[in-house]
Amino acid sequence: MSAWRRELEVFGAFVARTLGLHFDETRTTQLEEALIRRAAETGFREAGAYVAALPTRDVREEARAIAGSLTVGETYFFRNSDQFRALTEVALPARRSAGSSPVRILSAGCATGEEPYTLAMLARESGEGPVRLHALDVNPAAIEKARRGVYSPWSLRETSREMKDKYFRPAGKDFRLVDEILGDVQFEEANLAVDDPRFWRPGSWDVVFCRNVIMYFSPETQKAVVSRIAASLAPGGFLFLGHAETLRGLSQDFHLRQSHETFYYQRKERGAAEDPPQFRREDESPARLSGAAVESASGVGVHREIHTASRERERILELVGHEKFGEALEALAGLPGAAEDDPDTGLMKAALLVNAGNAREAERVCALVLRADDLSSGAHYVMAQCREAAGDAEGAAEHDRAAVYLDPAFAMPRLHLGLLLRKSGDLPGAREQFERALALLPSEDPSRLVLFGGGFGREALMQLCRAEMKACEGRKP
Ligand SMILES: C[S@@+](CC[C@H](N)C(=O)[O-])C[C@H]1O[C@@H](n2cnc3c(N)ncnc32)[C@H](O)[C@@H]1O
Repeated sequence: MSAWRRELEVFGAFVARTLGLHFDETRTTQLEEALIRRAAETGFREAGAYVAALPTRDVREEARAIAGSLTVGETYFFRNSDQFRALTEVALPARRSAGSSPVRILSAGCATGEEPYTLAMLARESGEGPVRLHALDVNPAAIEKARRGVYSPWSLRETSREMKDKYFRPAGKDFRLVDEILGDVQFEEANLAVDDPRFWRPGSWDVVFCRNVIMYFSPETQKAVVSRIAASLAPGGFLFLGHAETLRGLSQDFHLRQSHETFYYQRKERGAAEDPPQFRREDESPARLSGAAVESASGVGVHREIHTASRERERILELVGHEKFGEALEALAGLPGAAEDDPDTGLMKAALLVNAGNAREAERVCALVLRADDLSSGAHYVMAQCREAAGDAEGAAEHDRAAVYLDPAFAMPRLHLGLLLRKSGDLPGAREQFERALALLPSEDPSRLVLFGGGFGREALMQLCRAEMKACEGRKP
């Protein structure tokens, strides 16, 4: 390995340790530029000398200084407005009903302030009573800009005329927020990778927005940050992540919620009757968990829920492959400790039942699995099939969307969703789903294909996608 690569590796490890940020091969240039810039700033003629001196430097100061050049600060007012509708129409009323007044909201990774100020405007508009808003970011320059409250028209690209007139004043070519909104948010410079007692005391928050932040973290930091957020949220509190981020493989502390065409999470009520017992999952050894987190961080959609490790399970999959569903169900029932309320066994059983045409029983089993683990993309997919069989196309589509959100690499729910959309007459929407399914199928996990493929192999499913795409264009397949 060249000296430069070694130095970069040491610097990358320092960045991961202090800021939690993970740089894969596609983002090495950003890491290189930050190293060169910081070495120059600190008076070192060579990056290697700076790296060698790192252990002697003040870690906190160093992290502050490099944060600006290593973080992605993209943001704007009213970003992903569907989530804000869910906030004002679901989360705020729910927290108010739970007795929280003011409702305490944290914007974690707030960048230059557009997100928390959007929350401040919406809280005033909603008439849902007082809220207390805190916002944090590790980048000192971003926090300084947030406190100034002056923004370019580009930051207001999704802001309606009405909100602009009400809450902004022209400031040259830019816009300044009115004082009442500026005063609504308390900003702090803080590092999410650090267990900071100012933010993470149990029950501190009713709602946390942490959008488009954990996607840049290493798997370990993702887990640590989500676990701090879970602990600091009141039971029943809400967590909003970015559209491309999920808790799958990161936490079992939340229910998945879906409304206003978006997804978000609700902290499980500790000890409440509605909560299922926390099943010990087969894969809960530390090694498996970190593997799962790696999958989740890299977006590689290898399915965690189906375990083919045991020979028995492999044999069951073989039977499924030969469409011997009855025999497979018998073999499944014979597995040691195969209670259907174990999420893994339950999911397999539900999938077998749906394949065997017993959608009602499949739905009963699947509901148990989802009660235990509603972040299981496989269970959402099987539930989508059950709901369709029950004549509930809308419910089926919701479960397919949940499966796709939780695991963007899962091809079958996209294909199923495409079929549902085509039936409902939404041809462009259907086509998009078939296209995506087609792109995903070549790398779909083989055991998942057997269990969820409805008796079709990879090639047959791909042909089906192509035929459906043509049908969407009005051409004969
Ligand atoms: C893409 S912005 C997201 C802004 C806003 N949440 C949104 O979705 O529009 C990501 C922000 O996370 C911040 N960030 C990254 N690592 C952080 C850390 N360790 N602690 C706190 N903030 C961090 C960055 O400085 C950046 O401002």
